[in-house]
Amino acid sequence: MLFTQIFGVSTAHISVAGAIVCLILFTLQRFLTVRRTGRERKASIAISKEKDKAKTDLPYLLQFPPSRRHVLATLPGSEKEDVQAITPEMLKSQALPTVTTPDFDKDGFYTPTGFSTQDIRKLGRFPDYAALSGVRDPHPVPENWDITKAKFRPYRPFRWGYHQHMALMKYDPDWWVELTSSYHTTMATRHALLAQHGSKILFQNPCASHACRELMEMVLSFLCNRYPQHFSLSSDQTLFHNHLLSTTTHLLQTDPLQVLFDNVPEDYAIMMCNESDGLYYLRAAIVCSSVGWYASQHRDAPLKSIHTHVPDYESKMAFSMDRWFSKLSTDALVSRCSWGLEDWEAFHTSPDPDAVSGDMEWTRSAFKGREDEVTTKDIKLRCDAQTLRRMPVSGAVVFNFKAIFWELEELREEKYVPRLLAKVLREGKKELMEYKCEEHVRRVAMRACEEWAEEQVEKGWVSREWEVGTLEESPFFPGWEGKWRGEQGF
Ligand SMILES: *[C@@H]1O[C@H](CO)[C@@H](O)[C@H](O)[C@H]1NC(C)=O
Repeated sequence: MLFTQIFGVSTAHISVAGAIVCLILFTLQRFLTVRRTGRERKASIAISKEKDKAKTDLPYLLQFPPSRRHVLATLPGSEKEDVQAITPEMLKSQALPTVTTPDFDKDGFYTPTGFSTQDIRKLGRFPDYAALSGVRDPHPVPENWDITKAKFRPYRPFRWGYHQHMALMKYDPDWWVELTSSYHTTMATRHALLAQHGSKILFQNPCASHACRELMEMVLSFLCNRYPQHFSLSSDQTLFHNHLLSTTTHLLQTDPLQVLFDNVPEDYAIMMCNESDGLYYLRAAIVCSSVGWYASQHRDAPLKSIHTHVPDYESKMAFSMDRWFSKLSTDALVSRCSWGLEDWEAFHTSPDPDAVSGDMEWTRSAFKGREDEVTTKDIKLRCDAQTLRRMPVSGAVVFNFKAIFWELEELREEKYVPRLLAKVLREGKKELMEYKCEEHVRRVAMRACEEWAEEQVEKGWVSREWEVGTLEESPFFPGWEGKWRGEQGF
């Protein structure tokens, strides 16, 4: 069921953001194999197929990420107690439940990363997440960094030359949350969306309470370390000061997801392992930047069934995404960026579930019925920058995403980019292009890019002989850093 709804509806309703989530999920399992040699990879796929065949029912029940429990012995105040890893059998039979409400006061229940309910109580609030996860704290932004001028890096994640290679990257811990001059406007937009949509875009199940608190603490710690001039915690870590908004949040009295919502301009989706089948289900979310869907449509949905309706998806690749997910370690920081073209700044738009049945009167385009009026100036490049990581203590997996827009016209001055995008738009697989943009947008954007590509050849920026392919700097382009720093002034 997960996300198939998005893909089950007509093409016009296909959401860029939804597609992204699907594609990221679908490609994650490839991440590990990318780093192996071809032979190892073939062997491992063969083995996994064998195994999957052997245990047709619930093959993931005994698969867990590497335990992080040994870290307990290194934390201050621990008496070199017995911190052995817990066996998979124990993790399974004594799993903290997600199907029923877990009781954190009861001893002897475990998270997928091997922490017991006693461990969780003893760790308390704001434990050392860097040690627990194996991911260092971020460095503070440079002295001359100025949020009123800060811009997102110019993502241009266009690829050509191969299919279904999703370019997963390991991201630097400094870039988990990225603040820019758009902070205040994005926060205001998000608050208006919450007022309008409520539990359609923000919800959590009781089983996710600890995971939500852990995420909130990790993100707040990140903000205080990365942007010390803008955020701070009181010494007893009960008050969070946001100097950008001039607000103070009482952490003991505020729901963790609300704390995130009130301070962070990014989206989060929390997936947790279901102890009955070992698969991951969506249990909590704050998702504002969805186009064509809203988060609560997928509440409690499993990761599993997303295979359906992903364009270009080949059934032979349908192996073990769940297995990859179930083993993801807490220090694997995965990011990717996907893109689409829109004829307006489509941050959030979704069908109205209360509207009269049938077609929910939702359109992706702002030019419905007058598509031929769209000009190059109307077209925005939308990138969805995504990260994925496993939280150390709860073992829940967090998707994080944010939508970033640029005028298509910015690409005109960016070497190689117009020619690459033009190629993708002209020759890319039809189903994939239908995801990325509607036909009227594709036509206008393609013509503009071809014109700019020719201009760049005439200016001598790009050789006519250049054989179009994914850029070495992907998801950026040659000279991107100069452009980016030039525009920010630092
Ligand atoms: C957990 O997994 C079981 C077994 O597949 C399934 O029946 C159940 O619906 C899942 N629970 C939830 C709450 O999703």
